[in-house]
Amino acid sequence: MRTTVGIIGAGPAGLLLARLLHGAGVDSVVLEARDRAYVEQRQRAGILEQGTADVLRAAGAGARMDREGLRHDGIELRFDRRRHRVDLSALTGGRSVMVYAQTEVCKDLVALRLADGGPLLFGAEALAVEGAGTDAPRVRFRHRGREDVLECDYVAGCDGFRGVSRRAVPAGVSRVFERTYPFGWLGVLADVPPSHDELVYARHDRGFALLSMRSPSVSRLYLQVPGGTQPKEWSDEDVWRELERRLETADDWTLRRGPVTQKSVTPLRSYVHEPMRYGRLFLAGDAAHIVPPTGAKGLNLAVGDAVTLARALGHRKETGSDELLDAYSATCLRRVWQAERFSNDLTALLHRAPDATAFEDRLQLARLERIASSRAAGTDLAEAYTGFPLEGGADAAAADG
Ligand code: APR
Ligand code: PHB
Repeated sequence: MRTTVGIIGAGPAGLLLARLLHGAGVDSVVLEARDRAYVEQRQRAGILEQGTADVLRAAGAGARMDREGLRHDGIELRFDRRRHRVDLSALTGGRSVMVYAQTEVCKDLVALRLADGGPLLFGAEALAVEGAGTDAPRVRFRHRGREDVLECDYVAGCDGFRGVSRRAVPAGVSRVFERTYPFGWLGVLADVPPSHDELVYARHDRGFALLSMRSPSVSRLYLQVPGGTQPKEWSDEDVWRELERRLETADDWTLRRGPVTQKSVTPLRSYVHEPMRYGRLFLAGDAAHIVPPTGAKGLNLAVGDAVTLARALGHRKETGSDELLDAYSATCLRRVWQAERFSNDLTALLHRAPDATAFEDRLQLARLERIASSRAAGTDLAEAYTGFPLEGGADAAAADG
């Protein structure tokens, strides 16, 4: 099999890249290890920065998002049983975020890919990327029990944190920067209308809690839990009681309970692999970087990488110039490190470390007070939360998508 761009992985990074390349007249083949149902059902975060929503619209993938997604102009910070609304729009000159689940983004992009007629092979597991440093890279993969080879001009490693593409970068070239956190998030999905119309981020002596949502009738809730926690250690009753404690306010706010339909634990990790390009292999999304989920930047970074790579490959096709491909890693990493910084800061602001001292507790509260009382501090949070603009603008790569 032969194509211009071999894309490994049909998460948001790979699917969006395929769609943008189609719009730019560049052919690609997408190899996805899992089946379609799995890709469309996997629970992930669901906050789209304004720039991400703009990219999806420009790529022709925004119609259902605009119908069913929920635009949010603010978030609430809760600490000391008090509530502070961060008015994202007022602080950023009108920017907002969109609540629309990553699974829905993937469904929309899979449907577009199939309509575009471009190859998207489910159950096709990449085994290795070979010849990344040559002009003729290849992806060895297994599909329906048979081994095959995809010959490409370029390979896009969009295969997530546990994929194989990163391994094709020689050890002497790779640099890894990482941090693990001594806690995770226990997440539940519940069939109950959200108890607040905006997201609530709570700092509590017992640990962080987050009230989020998937739709007007489905809540998504999270609790900070010790590292290594198993979901079955928490009964539904335990989860609700702990959420009530951590989200409690001095006023008459109450938490609505409902049937829990899913429960899982995610570890928290920060990770960056540099460079994001080796020869003709380009890493995008979780294959290159992980952020802790506080602030929900993961999907937004994956989208930024896909846009940057599609633009560079389109530029190469139009002009024959490698200039943007050569700049790919540095361009992406500038944005990646801002998201790493923000996600780490927001995590530190809201979580309670197992060995936290009373002094650190007071510092956290002072930082939250500062955000609540200073427009400058609030603006700093609001700008990062709604997202830094993509270099070159959202519609440059997606214009004809
Ligand atoms: N061969 C083919 N496909 C693979 C392989 C492989 N060897 N390994 C992994 N994959 C597939 C996975 O099954 C998955 O569908 O690659 C895809 C990677 O998708 P994601 O993990 O969603 O990664 P990405 O597209 O970068 O999106 C990042 O996902 O984890 C969240 O918070 C993160 O929101 C962010 C987003
Ligand atoms: C989610 O809804 O899954 C979510 C929302 C906000 C975050 C993280 C996760 O900061």
